[in-house]
Amino acid sequence: MKVLSIVGARPQFVKCAPVSREVRKVHEEVLVHTGQHYDYLLSEVFFRDLGIPAPDYHLEIGSGSHGVQTGRMLAAIEEVIAKEEPEIVLVYGDTNSTLAGALAAAKMHVPVAHVEAGLRSFDRRMPEEVNRVLTDHCSDILFCPTATAVRNLAAEGVTAGVHLPGDVMVDALRENLPLARERSTALADFGLSPKGYFLATVHRAGNTDDPAALRAIMEAFSRLDAPVIFPVHPRTRKKFAEYGIAPAANVRIVEPFPYFDMLALLSGARAVLTDSGGVQKEAYILEVPCVTLRENTEWVETVEDGWNVLVGADADQIVAEAEKAGGARLPHSARFGDGHAAERIAAIIAEYEP
Ligand code: UD1
Repeated sequence: MKVLSIVGARPQFVKCAPVSREVRKVHEEVLVHTGQHYDYLLSEVFFRDLGIPAPDYHLEIGSGSHGVQTGRMLAAIEEVIAKEEPEIVLVYGDTNSTLAGALAAAKMHVPVAHVEAGLRSFDRRMPEEVNRVLTDHCSDILFCPTATAVRNLAAEGVTAGVHLPGDVMVDALRENLPLARERSTALADFGLSPKGYFLATVHRAGNTDDPAALRAIMEAFSRLDAPVIFPVHPRTRKKFAEYGIAPAANVRIVEPFPYFDMLALLSGARAVLTDSGGVQKEAYILEVPCVTLRENTEWVETVEDGWNVLVGADADQIVAEAEKAGGARLPHSARFGDGHAAERIAAIIAEYEP
């Protein structure tokens, strides 16, 4: 099959690394980078560290409002599809790049395969939720990471073409954790000892675009009884400046980490405080307690098993949950698959008949 894969933002680079490798064993792959993320530390460093092949097309769309960004992608992807005439278009996750790729392909009658289908936060104010629902409803092959995702799709009447290969982020993590432990010097560089610090990430619009929420989160971090290592997404850094927020002495604001440093710091943390979906799940797999700075999550399994707690942007709750992290938890289970999701995805694509 000729598979046209579309990526554009940091989490998609992580997901596409194992899938692209397996897809290329049996199919011809054309890789498109929309350019949604363009900073070196959000994009190129992932291609380098994860050994992702250089994109065949770089659309250089960059930032913009949702309409502008998604619209430009749609137009540019349509041209690539017209030229390449792929048999399948493969999209990942829930970003504007995902929706643009799925929509362009569906309108051109090219079958769409969605990796990470069926996730729901049931919060339509999140741009990611709108992207997920629309992408799933114009997809022909739906690769679910969890049984919950399969049930979510069934509840919306989507049952045809639904598969449960497992989560490709487990594939990426299994493969790269030993490398991260071997290669990353991040703990030593920051003078940190294992379990002697917190790791934090904040980039969701719901937190960054609300001054009160971002202030409450930063106030909570300042009250924690250990250093907080905080790799800052560019949008959050801009908001610190805009709202006049200055981090407290125990909060170390640093540039976004490459994947290996992030894995090393995450696996050594006492707890992670985050509003990222991917980080919640990585924490669960690495058996690191997670305090989620949101009111809801797509990764309900992490909460059910007691490894994750939802606290929103409530300063007192953030502090209380972070400091007691390490309490009773249910046995850890392989809720996100066995690390062979990418192989299954490549095989299912091979069997697909429109
Ligand atoms: C996007 C995804 C989000 C995902 C996140 C991972 C959407 C709607 N959101 O959010 O689901 O969790 O990626 O990081 O697709 N910027 C830079 N340099 C860059 C990229 C962005 O400075 O390389 C700044 C720009 O000011 C931009 C802002 O960050 O306006 C937000 O970027 P954008 O791509 O719109 O969304 P993310 O917040 O990164």
